[in-house]
Amino acid sequence: MDIFVVEGGKRLEGTITVGGAKNAAVAIIPAAILSGDICRIENLPDISDVSVISQILIQLGAKVTQISKSVIEIDSRNVNCTQVSQELAKNMRASYYMLGALLGRFNRAKVPMPGGCYFGVRPIDQHLKGFEALGAKTGLRDGVISLTTDKGLKGARISLDVVSVGATINLMLGAVRAEGLTIIERAAREPHIVDLANFLNSMGADVRGAGTDVIKIRGVKKLHGATYSIIPDQIEAGTYMIAAAATGGDVTINNIIPKHMESISRKLVEMGVEIYEYDDAIRVTRSRPLKACNVTTMPHPGFPTDMQPQMAVIMSIANGVSSITEGVWENRFQYVEQLCRLGVKATVQGRVATFEGVEKLVGNHVRATDLRGGAAMVIAALISDGETSIRDIYHIERGYERLIDKLVRVGACIDRRTVPDDYE
Ligand code: EPZ
Repeated sequence: MDIFVVEGGKRLEGTITVGGAKNAAVAIIPAAILSGDICRIENLPDISDVSVISQILIQLGAKVTQISKSVIEIDSRNVNCTQVSQELAKNMRASYYMLGALLGRFNRAKVPMPGGCYFGVRPIDQHLKGFEALGAKTGLRDGVISLTTDKGLKGARISLDVVSVGATINLMLGAVRAEGLTIIERAAREPHIVDLANFLNSMGADVRGAGTDVIKIRGVKKLHGATYSIIPDQIEAGTYMIAAAATGGDVTINNIIPKHMESISRKLVEMGVEIYEYDDAIRVTRSRPLKACNVTTMPHPGFPTDMQPQMAVIMSIANGVSSITEGVWENRFQYVEQLCRLGVKATVQGRVATFEGVEKLVGNHVRATDLRGGAAMVIAALISDGETSIRDIYHIERGYERLIDKLVRVGACIDRRTVPDDYE
């Protein structure tokens, strides 16, 4: 197996450039097949989730050409299959965006239940409720979700019961070619929802209101190919901001949209971190001790749940007692036990984790429990005395492009090694 080995105690200093947003990319790539034409997608992150979702398109009959590391061309003119293979679907959550994309183009789709990080039950009832409102028949057999419509999809008013990024995206995909007007109420407002809407509109769709909680989609008969560049990754940027602050470093993070970073910047400033905003960059530096703070994760524009494990690390070395209340997922604290192996003092009760700041952390063997939990292990290892090994790094590589390269360039000491499976 492959592991990361981190020699802690190095201060990060320099410049890091952020890649394209993972959660936008994994929605925009499926969306391209709605065009039935050729789309060029730029600023893609070089991560395994992008390869897997591209593989799914290829399996369905699309031609996907890698133009460069961050650019692909998707020719979906010959897509002829509407059933995603079990093998590919189970590797990632976003495979379920093929439901909306295939339904929207072909009026039918069969997609196995998706994989992805485990945070307790991850229901898809809101997706199915929305597809049914658009006129689809839904079914679930042997773990495969099926959607069909004989009469074609019809626009509808859909009021989501919970704010769901995935359901909002899937219903946008399903509705762009439906007949008439679809209104999604209680829509998610994340930056990648806006990015998807912009991409759909660049293919000729009529999507308005993305970024607010009401999205209106007027169905169009036909879409066409487009060239589109994906927004920068808010969570990748936030992860490096916290790594810089935790190590008492001075790092400028390039290729970001500072507005997307506001909820994260605000908390870091509250903790005593200095943040300087530029047009498309942020400089993060810290020379003072960290102060404790409290965070509640919420859908955008609240503090992102995908940043809470990284935030936990910096809280664990702040003066005083900090807390995180998880407002999105029922169980997103599995990583805390791993942090405790490095000396973090934490308790978890239901959806609340409390961190009592300690002077220092000490290296040990830990594992990535999920993607962002894995990023937290890397940051914790950077500030631990001595060596830390991190296993199950495939979680991390699903969503962070060239993480080691980027951190090593600013002074971190990290190695990727292949070790025997029973390595201790
Ligand atoms: C997306 O997951 C992201 N994944 C997650 O990021 C992120 O944590 C999450 O949004 C919240 O921001 C991708 O974009 C691929 P939701 P998603 O539907 O869409 C409940 C990462 O680390 N819910 O917004 O699956 C659900 O249980 C990943 O990059 C229902 O009850 O999340 C949760 O409590 C991990 N019924 C809440 O809504 C439904 O039908 C929000 O889930 C759907 C969701």
